[in-house]
Amino acid sequence: MDKIRITGGLPLNGEIEISGAKNAALPLMAASLLTDQPLEFDRVPDLRDVASLIEILEELGVACAYDAQKKTLKLHAARLSSCLAPYDLVRKMRASILVLGPLVARHGEAKVSLPGGCAIGTRPVDMHIDALRELGAEIELAEGYIHARAPGGLVGAEIHFPKSSVGATENIMMAATLAKGVTVLHNAAREPEIVDLGGCLVKMGAEIEGLGTDKITVRGKSFLRGTAHSVIADRIEAGTFAIAGVMTGGALLLKNAEIGHLGAMIDPFHKAGVDIAEVAGGVSVRRVKDVLRGVDIMTEPYPGFPTDLQAQMMSMLTIATGAGMVTETIFENRFMHVPELLRMGADITVHGSSALVRGVKKLKGADVMATDLRASVSLVLAGLVAEGATSVHRIYHLERGYENIVGKLKAVGAKLEKLKDDGED
Ligand code: EPZ
Repeated sequence: MDKIRITGGLPLNGEIEISGAKNAALPLMAASLLTDQPLEFDRVPDLRDVASLIEILEELGVACAYDAQKKTLKLHAARLSSCLAPYDLVRKMRASILVLGPLVARHGEAKVSLPGGCAIGTRPVDMHIDALRELGAEIELAEGYIHARAPGGLVGAEIHFPKSSVGATENIMMAATLAKGVTVLHNAAREPEIVDLGGCLVKMGAEIEGLGTDKITVRGKSFLRGTAHSVIADRIEAGTFAIAGVMTGGALLLKNAEIGHLGAMIDPFHKAGVDIAEVAGGVSVRRVKDVLRGVDIMTEPYPGFPTDLQAQMMSMLTIATGAGMVTETIFENRFMHVPELLRMGADITVHGSSALVRGVKKLKGADVMATDLRASVSLVLAGLVAEGATSVHRIYHLERGYENIVGKLKAVGAKLEKLKDDGED
């Protein structure tokens, strides 16, 4: 196990290159299963989660070639050698469930391990399963696996999602591209990563309308072709580094970031006293005054405030002037960073799905434990401003979703290093 040791108190200034979005790259990779022709992606981030999904795709018979220098990924599912996504691979990365829809649609069968829960919640996949059944798949749940069959192919249907789900929208949209007839997804999720996936599917020959709205219509085709596609910039990485910049009192240029994807992050930033604007080549961010003001945030499906930035925003609020209320409405257990921030001297009171954060003058460096991807980065942010040294343990969580975070932060003035974690089990 490794840890990151941070010496706090240094302002971050300069440029950070925002990588391709993890949560766009993963569904795009799953889309390779929909065609027997090659797909070529660029701006694919060098992340543990990408490597995990490559492992699963190779298990299914997809030829994968990733170039970590050029950030390109070539995928070719000329013929599939298996329809089994095994537990020992799926448990490492929940988004592996995204191979289910494409596999059933193209191959007529899929056996995918139920992903199981994770630190932030039980993470059920009932909406994926129910919607696939409505497209005509016969689905059996046994021994921890989803066994789906559609030997005669899928048939388009009107799907009504009971709640907004990014993964279910992506899985069913992909499956519908090869279904017979028309599929309409009602209450579809609207995240930019879904729009990016849909844009790639259209380049592959799919017929899709309503991307970015809560009603997506897909007219099924008998086959899809290969294409080349560039992954959109990671809005959560951009938001994370924006918070790092303003917490430390610096000024950053977030290269390649798309301000249009930052949506509901902008208003709380402005209220907190942050100047964030679109500039040539990306997004610039800095504090307007020498203090940050406490603000209230509530996480919601896009275009609302993203749950994936909730922990990072909470870190910012711990040192703001005044108080801020953080309400998490998407996941049932996404306050795992709170006990660790309290150990650094933060003043946070949790009531159910809300946390009242009262700003303190200074955080104190401490040894803290990462529990999930976004909680771990919130501890790095706190370490950047804390007095003294902070060690964030179990940083494999961090490496799942942040490409070269130590290098990127060092390049703009942070003092941190990755160390072997002695004594860590
Ligand atoms: C995606 O997860 C993201 N992951 C998550 O990012 C993100 O937090 C989440 O969307 C919400 O924006 C990827 O894109 C790979 P959901 P997903 O289905 O698709 C419930 C990160 O840090 N639900 O939109 O799993 C679910 O439990 C990760 O990068 C069901 O009840 O999220 C949650 O409460 C974390 N049944 C809510 O819906 C289902 O069948 C939204 O989940 C599916 C979901």
